[in-house]
Amino acid sequence: MKGIILAGGKATRLYPITRAVCKQLLPVYDKPMVYYPLSLLMLAGIKDILLISTPEALPRFKDLLGNGSEIGIKIRFAEQRTPRGIAQALTIAEGFIGKDKVCLVLGDNVFFGQGLSSLLKEAVRQKEGATIFGYYVNDPARYGVIGFDRKGGVSSIEEKPKRPKSNYVITGIYFYDHLACSIAKALKPSQRKEFEITDVNRYYLERGKLKVKLLGRGYAWLDMGTYESLMEASEFIKTMEQRQGVKVGCIEEVAYKKRYIDERQLRKLAKEIPTSYGDYLRRLLKNE
Ligand code: DAU
Repeated sequence: MKGIILAGGKATRLYPITRAVCKQLLPVYDKPMVYYPLSLLMLAGIKDILLISTPEALPRFKDLLGNGSEIGIKIRFAEQRTPRGIAQALTIAEGFIGKDKVCLVLGDNVFFGQGLSSLLKEAVRQKEGATIFGYYVNDPARYGVIGFDRKGGVSSIEEKPKRPKSNYVITGIYFYDHLACSIAKALKPSQRKEFEITDVNRYYLERGKLKVKLLGRGYAWLDMGTYESLMEASEFIKTMEQRQGVKVGCIEEVAYKKRYIDERQLRKLAKEIPTSYGDYLRRLLKNE
């Protein structure tokens, strides 16, 4: 399975912060935002990844991540010149995906919770159709909203509806079979002139090929688009990390634990980071 991280957009709601710096490179407590979705793909066992961003920001992502070989994975890069919707990522990635299945994750989403890896791996194993994840929120109108029938099955998905049918919304990680590109290519822009990922999901839903898994109370899902949500995410990560002594979204740790890199490489990476982050990586070696 291939992986895509969509990390473009203008992020005007974070102006002036994001006038010169891409949102997905901003810090979320002790690491750049993009580490969180990247570590998620790695946890799912996906090692072949395409990062899509703006032409201005791509060189900075390359500075940060290189070609991925330092953490034992393969990262390629592609431009999205103008942000024309999340589903556009699938058309940009057409050549990269080929006949493979794909997992698309939004570069500003953080997921946290026990059992997340197994949930992701289960979605990776699915042979056909799509798997997406729902989450209960207080403000569903900002998201793709799930409607349920009487038996609890999913009957509709609507993008930012005025009257949400439930409080369950679609999170920013999507697993698709090899049909996703052709579905995305056939889409028409929505009223807000975007190629909507919700339309791709609806295509699968209407054909009985959409699995929606609800993430329960034990999970945290955060997306960062505003000053408040950015700060909240940082506070959340800080609290979890300081309380438990383990890091969330630490790509070097995931690479080591999944044996994408060996002890020597982890030691080398740790040496390059002269902060408590580097100390943490060194501690992982000692705890072995
Ligand atoms: O976060 C989950 C939600 O993401 C879903 O519930 C919605 O169904 C889905 O449409 C999306 O809604 P948002 O309003 O959060 O999408 P937004 O336009 O903010 O884009 C999400 C991220 O993707 C953002 O960090 C910028 C990036 N992006 C977005 C677009 C439209 C791009 O890189 N390129 C784009 O063209």
